[in-house]
Amino acid sequence: MKLRILFGCVLLCSPGLIAGQVKTTPGPTAGAPEIPHLQKQGTATQLIVDGKPFLMLGGELSNSSGTSPVYMRPLWSKLVDAKLNTVLAGVSWNQIEPQEGKFDFSALDGIVRDARIHNLRLVLLWFGSWKNSWSSYPPDWVKKDFERFPRVQTAGGKSIEVLSALSDANRDADAHAFAALLGHVKAIDSQQRTVIMIQVENELGLPSEPKEFRDHSPMATKAYEGPVPKELMDYLQQHKDALVPELRRVWEAAGSKTSGTWEQVFGAGTATAEIFMGWNYARYVGRVVEAGKAAYPIQMFTNAYTYEFAKAGEAIRNSGTPMPDLMDVWRAGAPKVDVFALDIYGSDFASFCADYNRSGNPLLIPETRGMPPYPMEARALYAFGRHDAMGVSLMGVERPAATPDPLLTASYGLIAQLAPLIAKHQGDGSMSAVLLDPKGPPQNIKVGNYTLEAAPMGAGRGAPPSTDFAAAIFIAVGPDEYYAAGGGVSVRFSPIGPGPEFAGVGTVEEGWFENGRWVPSRQLAGDETGQGQNLSLRTHPADRNPDRYAGIQHFTLYRYH
Ligand code: DGJ
Repeated sequence: MKLRILFGCVLLCSPGLIAGQVKTTPGPTAGAPEIPHLQKQGTATQLIVDGKPFLMLGGELSNSSGTSPVYMRPLWSKLVDAKLNTVLAGVSWNQIEPQEGKFDFSALDGIVRDARIHNLRLVLLWFGSWKNSWSSYPPDWVKKDFERFPRVQTAGGKSIEVLSALSDANRDADAHAFAALLGHVKAIDSQQRTVIMIQVENELGLPSEPKEFRDHSPMATKAYEGPVPKELMDYLQQHKDALVPELRRVWEAAGSKTSGTWEQVFGAGTATAEIFMGWNYARYVGRVVEAGKAAYPIQMFTNAYTYEFAKAGEAIRNSGTPMPDLMDVWRAGAPKVDVFALDIYGSDFASFCADYNRSGNPLLIPETRGMPPYPMEARALYAFGRHDAMGVSLMGVERPAATPDPLLTASYGLIAQLAPLIAKHQGDGSMSAVLLDPKGPPQNIKVGNYTLEAAPMGAGRGAPPSTDFAAAIFIAVGPDEYYAAGGGVSVRFSPIGPGPEFAGVGTVEEGWFENGRWVPSRQLAGDETGQGQNLSLRTHPADRNPDRYAGIQHFTLYRYH
């Protein structure tokens, strides 16, 4: 028989943070002008800001908001109230280089200044050659000169408003502007480090309409009918055993050749066109990233919202985009891209996270939103707890309806409290999380020395049904000692490995962290632990008082016969 414990808990936050361990508070630390960088910890990759692991609790502005400091002025305090520590803001190529070679960074300077005043960090989104597939952000002098800056063409020879990734002129113009941007960021921010990462382009890849898997411009077709570049063939052979299975299957199905045309090496299927486009976009972005890092070697990532090759007859989605199936092609073509980030709006959040957080790619989510059955605050907890995420971000965070969302605020506040524990336990298997459909089945996870069977609250376990939220993070801080936080979940325990077969719950405290110190409030037992039957993380909207309500539980387990 498994032991059961029940105790009350809801998402909440306390302003306190463990000083010196982890950085979630914005603002620079004196004396250490270290450029934000990535660092491995076990299987996890952490973003280090001012010498400390940084968990990005982000919000992405709507596309045009970052182009006007005046527009943003009344919004910063709302972003602070929402307990964000990072704002993701677009930088428009057209706005910074309205005339060729003449740069105007005044809007950017205002955004950086005001973010700094509000103690917020920034991730800049380079809206350069491509934004959601299309080329709407290049300056007019690029758009007008379609001879010098060629477009993608359809199989029917029609140009579409997408800069061709096979054009060196397009690439060099973008790289030149991007290098100027990074040089400017270095000049205004290498001491304060308000800017912590840069996203390069935005959801690039061929648009889904017109339905083209590849660029059919003459130079693209000549390249497609030519040999697969040696760099890509060398990469495939050198990484043969570590390739993502989907790419390896395509290559093997065509005989794992080590040279030949694209169709000889990858076959005549649509995946070949996607690989071809992936390679050419990667080469292009790779050069842009190199130019940027030569000016200021800060972390750079791409973002995408798909994960697999289109199946026969399926709609095309961004052919060539930096998605998991193409991760190796992108690594070969753009080795200096640090992270392939994920934009996820749909309800298949968990599977997308698993797909992007593989093959050593850290999980970073610049764009997501709550969608039943997984609200934003559940997604955030799950991404950090289950996938050692570097950061999550709510898209359109400054939109009136979105700010401040008490649930997001509670969630970010809670994660900020837990951040030292999360950062300490990333990558060593002592932390996990569940993301449950409140009306769905339980899930089993192994954390430390115990299996946790987590079920949505109310799933026949004596507690009132939770509202719309069923997610929790669990951190084993000792052989039989844990912290847990979240809501809408009740948990049963069973021991892992040899020894007494039953698990019991020892002491359960509810509380929060204040300046890194654990502050216990109630000691839970009896009804609050279901007479010892279930560990229960409740969610009662009324309880979502972000500041004082204790949302974290600290408990011990033991084994017995
Ligand atoms: C995903 C894009 O990356 C964003 O810039 C934005 O266009 C959203 N889609 C829709 O708001």
